[in-house]
Amino acid sequence: MHHDSTVIHLRAGGTSVIVDLHDDGVPEILHWGADQGDLSPHELSDIARATRAQRVSGGLDRPARLTVLPQESTGWQGTPGLTGSRSGQVFSPALRATEVVHTPSSLSFDAVDETARLRVHGTLALDPAGVLSHSLTVTNTGDDDYDLVDLCVTLPLPAGATEILDTTGRHLRERSPQRHAFTLGRHQRDSRKGRPGADATLLLFVGTPGFGFERGLVHAVHLAFSGNQRVAAEKLVTGPAFLQAGELLAAGEIRLAPGASYSTPTVIASWGDGLTELSARIHTRLRARRVHPRSPRPVTLNTWEAVYFDHDLGRLTALAEAAARVGVERYVLDDGWFHGRRDDTAGLGDWRVDADVWPDGLSPLIDTVTGLGMQFGLWVEPEMVNPDSDLARAHPDWLLQAAGRLPVEGRQQQVLDLSHPDAYAYILEALDALLVEYPIGYLKWDHNRDLVDAGSTRTGTAAVHNNVVALYALLDELKARHPGLEIESCASGGARVDLGILDHTDRIWTSDCIDPIERLTIQKYTGLLVPYELMGAHISGPESHSTGRRHDLSMRAGVALFGHLGIEWDIAALSTTDEAELTGWIDLYKANRSLFHTGTSVHVDHPDPAVDIRGVVATDQGSAVFVFSQVATSAAYPVGPLRFPGLAADTRYRVSLVNREFTGIGNGQSPLDWAEQPVTLTGKYLATIGLQGPVLFPEHLAVFSITSV
Ligand code: DGJ
Repeated sequence: MHHDSTVIHLRAGGTSVIVDLHDDGVPEILHWGADQGDLSPHELSDIARATRAQRVSGGLDRPARLTVLPQESTGWQGTPGLTGSRSGQVFSPALRATEVVHTPSSLSFDAVDETARLRVHGTLALDPAGVLSHSLTVTNTGDDDYDLVDLCVTLPLPAGATEILDTTGRHLRERSPQRHAFTLGRHQRDSRKGRPGADATLLLFVGTPGFGFERGLVHAVHLAFSGNQRVAAEKLVTGPAFLQAGELLAAGEIRLAPGASYSTPTVIASWGDGLTELSARIHTRLRARRVHPRSPRPVTLNTWEAVYFDHDLGRLTALAEAAARVGVERYVLDDGWFHGRRDDTAGLGDWRVDADVWPDGLSPLIDTVTGLGMQFGLWVEPEMVNPDSDLARAHPDWLLQAAGRLPVEGRQQQVLDLSHPDAYAYILEALDALLVEYPIGYLKWDHNRDLVDAGSTRTGTAAVHNNVVALYALLDELKARHPGLEIESCASGGARVDLGILDHTDRIWTSDCIDPIERLTIQKYTGLLVPYELMGAHISGPESHSTGRRHDLSMRAGVALFGHLGIEWDIAALSTTDEAELTGWIDLYKANRSLFHTGTSVHVDHPDPAVDIRGVVATDQGSAVFVFSQVATSAAYPVGPLRFPGLAADTRYRVSLVNREFTGIGNGQSPLDWAEQPVTLTGKYLATIGLQGPVLFPEHLAVFSITSV
């Protein structure tokens, strides 16, 4: 049988997307993954025919195809791409494409349903890294309101994808990986917290059984958005398997007036032979952005775990002096500086310097900090309000709430409705006034509670979507008014980590837990989306405030190298030896930050869960730094060869140990032969066979420097 079809082949960055515009013209992606080479129109049409399934007994007479906008009107019985109605009418759209435009690497289409009076515009674009971005816009072309329930992006998965990886988490333990069998049915992850949440899966991965970092075909999607959202993987009994992602809308949250439109956030989709390749595509994409921070990421000192709410000028000055001595470049005054903020029960909303604690304002501290050659940064939490604040007392109607009922509090706080023009203007001016008065180069922008019952008093409707839109506008407005201002997105640690917020900010705070053992996992899985230069990683004091465990400085600092390094520790009274050791690690970071912040992030799939090997390889593969962490004791003693993948196969590299104090540690070990006299091995040998690592105490690490010779 012959089917008329127009088949389009998009190619970029080693990726092919083959799109069939059949029947109703809504694009059906036949293939998304490895580049398929040059294909003639005839071959493309054969691909389309080869993909078509037979009709089967007991089913509909025309098997429904998996388009980028699956619709029940085509016989589709999986989750649809668009759901909504006009007071119950036109509940099942039948959109047909009216126009498709494409380039070698992108495609856009318009589809119209004259009866439902809807138009959908979709765009698909492959970037030079091979990342696919995809979004949809629906427009109400009718003359009454259209209640949108759901508009989501749908992308196909290959038949061999049978295993799901996602992450869950909580405060102090974000991004815990979990695996599931991808069987018939739907695996769905919802974020209903007004922010992605500590338990959000940054990406939803589906791949071949046992896919790891080094190999195994795997596809994933991420929704670039900072509010409620849904990602899912679904497999139908008729064969189609797909990923879906979209904003999770509350009832009535998006009611489209005649002529109004709603756009999905952009969905970022990547694939790879292994997670390292998949995430390298995303990192390359991010690094090509105009807004991507390119200056060396300054070593930061954050005062939080050093002093908490004890804002004493003498103490903070001593901290600044010590910070300058060890090489800190940015000093960030955390929570506790504003009116009434003596602890976490009051003050949020009153963004003026507390006159009792800071009788001469912030200038005495800021002058010291800048006089020592460091940039000054300040903590704010602009979206939040303590009921015990002048702001809450003056403007109770500015608080998000539902049906006149204030939401259950979180950390004794409520949330400001930034979609309220007066509330927005108040916050903008309050922050602007601080930035005008003081030389503040950096804001740590916090957000410390999940949203519930988040409605607007003006409209009575759910307002998460509008608050995210307003937040992005606010961040952009402040940056426009204060060129060069950098902003960190923090949310009880890493509860708002997404590529939406990162288009308006310069780094994320990865987790409030800075115990290096916990951080190994948190950074590994956050790093699948976020490259190291955007990921805050601090060196804590010897005893972790969130786990009570103690670690040597090398363990704390070696893990913080994999990020935008900072210190969160009262270093004012360190011994000369300790201060020198800390300075050494900061020097190591400074010497290598351009490698960490531009290179390819690599993780080794080691069979021993007590062994963690990670590294960064320069884009020209001329050098690399790897770190071996002995996470716990291993059954094997010594643990055996350590592999370092990602180097150029035929290039010869010299490997040396950076922190040599750990060779031969403990009782009864001889020195490690190659550590005494460095060896030269090929990239292929290092990737596939490797060399003996040093014997380490548990919860210790060794840093390796690898250079081509
Ligand atoms: C939560 C953040 O994650 C911490 O780093 C700190 O800034 C506190 N809030 C301050 O209240």
